[in-house]
Amino acid sequence: MRNFISVSDIGPLDRAVAEALEVKANRFAYKHLGENRTLMMIFFNSSLRTRLSTQKAALNLGMNVIVLDVNQGAWKLETERGVIMDGDKPEHLLEAIPVMGCYCDIIGVRSFARFESKEDDYQEKVINQFIRYSERPVFSMEAATRHPLQSFADLITIEEHKTVDRPKIVMTWAPHPKALPQAVPNSFAEWMNATDYDFVITHPRGYELDPRFVGNARVEYDQDKALAGADFVYAKNWSAFADPDYGKVLSTDRSWTVTAEKMALTNNAFFMHCLPVRRNMIVSDDVIEGPRSLVIPEAANREISAQVVLKRMLEDL
Ligand code: CP
Repeated sequence: MRNFISVSDIGPLDRAVAEALEVKANRFAYKHLGENRTLMMIFFNSSLRTRLSTQKAALNLGMNVIVLDVNQGAWKLETERGVIMDGDKPEHLLEAIPVMGCYCDIIGVRSFARFESKEDDYQEKVINQFIRYSERPVFSMEAATRHPLQSFADLITIEEHKTVDRPKIVMTWAPHPKALPQAVPNSFAEWMNATDYDFVITHPRGYELDPRFVGNARVEYDQDKALAGADFVYAKNWSAFADPDYGKVLSTDRSWTVTAEKMALTNNAFFMHCLPVRRNMIVSDDVIEGPRSLVIPEAANREISAQVVLKRMLEDL
């Protein structure tokens, strides 16, 4: 594997899940692969799970790890070419990227949508510059439009818990006070569409995702109807995608919060969320703390999804 940006980089999903389960059972069996290899993790945005799970995965593989928080201690980076750099940014990404590449073998990048330009966000301007200029394999630790390590962990978690071959998976929008990117729901939709699951997306009108990610999913605007018979409920907030509202919060309607009453409409569904989650906005305390909540197993599987990706990259160095 050279780069890992989307589901298309992982190959057949059944093989990826089988490899993940094998790695999970023998996570220190590949320590030789990372000997004298260095992972550099570059964060333009905050993280708890991605930071810790990816670092743990690299350590499992015997790698050295360097973590750079760009906004804490590094020079502030200019990302636009052609800018006269007479402002507060002393270094350009176009020098910083190849310099970072000199010190490592693999680069992970977290760079969220900025909501300044939909075109820049959806062209994945930042991570694509790392791919182009670092001369190193690059993987996404959540970019502007996708979060593939999360989606891979979600898929592993569903495969571990499903009781029928073709479970009904419902991804539901839920309220949140701030404008969040579409990366997690886009990515989850992309990965679910690559399976043969029965996949439904539900959200209030105005929250339609990019059709390229919605793909063949059924879109149902009535959340109660969507939840009927669900085997897994995947809750997530996202801001509007469609113009002229790109990046805006259009609703904080708490009738969309996933509560015990909502879960009672399902087929005793498991509850999923990538975390961090705002309790009693996205999900009620009793649901997230309940016996069908998978939020902790999902987070635990982030170590496994990261380890499979790093393992494949190391094998191809
Ligand atoms: N789910 C996830 O990516 O968590 P962090 O933002 O804490 O890394």
